[in-house]
Amino acid sequence: MVEMEKIVSLCKRRGFIFQSSEIYGGTGSCWDYGPLGVELKNNVKRAWWRDCVQNRGDMVGLDASILMHPRVWKASGHLDHFTDPMIDCKVCKGRFRADKLEDARCPQKPSKQPGQHDACALTEARMFNLMFKTFMGPVEDDAAIAYLRPETAQGIFVNFENVQQSMRLKLPFGIAQIGKSFRNEITPGNFTFRTREFEQMEIEFFVMPGTDEDWHQRWLDERFAWYPRYGIRKENLRLREHEKDELAHYAKRTADIEYLFPMGWSELEGVANRTDYDLKQHAQFSGKMLEYFDEESKQKVVPFVIEPSAGADRGTLAFLVDAYREEEVKGEKRVVLNFHRELAPIKVAVLPLLKKNPRIVETAHKLCADLRKRWHAVYDDTASIGRLYRRQDEVGTPFCVTVDVQSVGDEKSAADDQVTIRDRDNMQQIRVPLASLTAVMEKLMEGEWAQIHGQHGLARN
Ligand code: GAP
Repeated sequence: MVEMEKIVSLCKRRGFIFQSSEIYGGTGSCWDYGPLGVELKNNVKRAWWRDCVQNRGDMVGLDASILMHPRVWKASGHLDHFTDPMIDCKVCKGRFRADKLEDARCPQKPSKQPGQHDACALTEARMFNLMFKTFMGPVEDDAAIAYLRPETAQGIFVNFENVQQSMRLKLPFGIAQIGKSFRNEITPGNFTFRTREFEQMEIEFFVMPGTDEDWHQRWLDERFAWYPRYGIRKENLRLREHEKDELAHYAKRTADIEYLFPMGWSELEGVANRTDYDLKQHAQFSGKMLEYFDEESKQKVVPFVIEPSAGADRGTLAFLVDAYREEEVKGEKRVVLNFHRELAPIKVAVLPLLKKNPRIVETAHKLCADLRKRWHAVYDDTASIGRLYRRQDEVGTPFCVTVDVQSVGDEKSAADDQVTIRDRDNMQQIRVPLASLTAVMEKLMEGEWAQIHGQHGLARN
């Protein structure tokens, strides 16, 4: 397993993720996605949306606001229950989660668990609410208090009736949302794994009471199978059932999909059976019945809810970690991110073999412009071909297209109007007519390298 430092360093060096406000010394636990990081994360979110919303007949989307009526958080239980136990050290001024002391390190040397140094003076644990408070409007008084949402889920529950009625939906159906959430975590860390501002990809799937356990299992299976579909190795994923005493106040059963991150097995996504808790709470607090009229039984019911809740940042981090490879090629180290084609930030790089040959450069530019209409394509002529390949390998570009003298011809020989395509993972090459490049790329993007290589393959370079 790759160390997190290597991932952090590659992310900074190659424009995936930067420390927020770095020129001011950085903001704790906040990260900015650079040019390649934003492409990668967008691709993760796009794949999730396509598979969870657009490719299913029983799902619709929503984009609710981050600031909501403060009563929402009373009804949901967040004002009373969304707390972590916190401990301070009076000596080193460190602040730790009381329930995670074994994972924490005291700033005093040598590195030990808080409380294990003779000089440690830990306080009693006290509960700390994780919601960020702010004020709505120009007056900063108690009546104006608002909260940044700590989960996107509540935006879905309060819109249950709007969505169900406007779209005339019948149970079972789900509402999906991708958006920012905020938690004032006591101990953020491990790069983008635990931050105070993060993005969630959440589904609230409404079902008839009594069918909830079956639907819970179906969603667990579906979500567990999703990550390997985009390249995560199965041996790096596992399911972990929540013990009764760790279940959230709303949950009947929860299982986490865990990934083997560099710091160990940790939660990637939670899949919970939230019962009818949220709809009933919002009905009670808003005075508006949130029910569903079942045509078959001619009765009103409060649906149960299955909630697959994933982190877009955690997912992106897992895809980065899992894709990282170090290999030796011809005696040299090669770093490769072998992203799934759908997730790769750049799909194809166009590389002119000689940047001083105007015909090669012109053809390469034109070709890149054509490819760009369909995929995220880049042009690069700033190094030798070997280095250009390595650079693209390191950011996970699945295909490189090279334009050479043969492609455009010279005074001695006519142009063959062909270009070379190189595969990132096996480094094999194929030579294809310029006229069929887009059609060939379509097939390669569908994963048909072996078949195309059989027709157009060149010896490995
Ligand atoms: N609505 C249910 C809910 O929010 P959760 O287990 O607290 O459940 C769901 O969060 C997912 O959101 C997690 O599995 C994780 O991927 C992501 N997540 C939660 N807290 C996070 C944090 N502080 N930083 C990054 N991602 C976080």
